[in-house]
Amino acid sequence: MNINNIVFKTEGLSKYYNPNRPEEIKALMDINIEIKRGQITILSGPSGSGKTTLISLLGAIDRPTEGKIFLHDEELSVLSDESLALIRRKKIGFIFQDFNLIPRLSAWENVAYPLIPIVYNEKERKGRAAALLERLGLGKRINHTPEEMSGGEQQRVSIARALINNPEILIADEPSSNIDAKAIENLILILTDLRKKGMTIIISTHDEVFYPHADIKINLKEGILIDIEQRMQRT
Ligand SMILES: Nc1ncnc2c1ncn2[C@@H]1O[C@H](COP(=O)(O)OP(=O)(O)OP(=O)(O)O)[C@@H](O)[C@H]1O
Ligand SMILES: [Mg+2]
Repeated sequence: MNINNIVFKTEGLSKYYNPNRPEEIKALMDINIEIKRGQITILSGPSGSGKTTLISLLGAIDRPTEGKIFLHDEELSVLSDESLALIRRKKIGFIFQDFNLIPRLSAWENVAYPLIPIVYNEKERKGRAAALLERLGLGKRINHTPEEMSGGEQQRVSIARALINNPEILIADEPSSNIDAKAIENLILILTDLRKKGMTIIISTHDEVFYPHADIKINLKEGILIDIEQRMQRT
């Protein structure tokens, strides 16, 4: 595997909440992993094992207590807040567990939200958002608000919002916990299709339904990396 195929690399990555206080929690300890381009990587482990913490660190939302994270050759932990925000906007799309949609905005307005109005006028923003919603099977829902949509539909709106800036990386935290079995099936189709197009996908989940579709599964327990399972045969 060419070194350029490594998207994320962590070295001795640790995250302690409330460090050096009686209520200190070692959420992640000495994590050394590589995440490769065009693969589906699953972060697995029981509740409290550190999945969301690791996703926040990889996604440049939070900073490590110790250790390093490289996104390509750039070390994230030394960058300014502004640089991290730029990386989040340009390179990473997030799908949140509870979708994080803005209630009073329509589907297309939610999807277009990350597009900067100075760069794109309203017509362009609506056009791009509508095209993405169409691609995700929501062409008839572009003017609906989140409360007028099912859980699975709301999630597809949140996927479209995650994709609107053409990120190279898609990160999803527990994406199956708020949708039904049919919507999960649909989500897997969307994710495997994105992988075919070369997207790097990271999913935190303890839902076994994703496992056959993963290239690699990273197993965490109580903040420790237990093992890494390589999948030779995936669907
Ligand atoms: N902001 C925080 N402040 C203090 N402790 C936290 C914070 N966030 C998480 N923790 C603790 O860190 C540990 C790891 O939490 P994390 O949310 O990363 O686990 P998880 O694997 O995502 O769990 P779940 O499957 O329940 O979502 C847990 O013990 C949790 O209580
Ligand atoms: Mg979590």
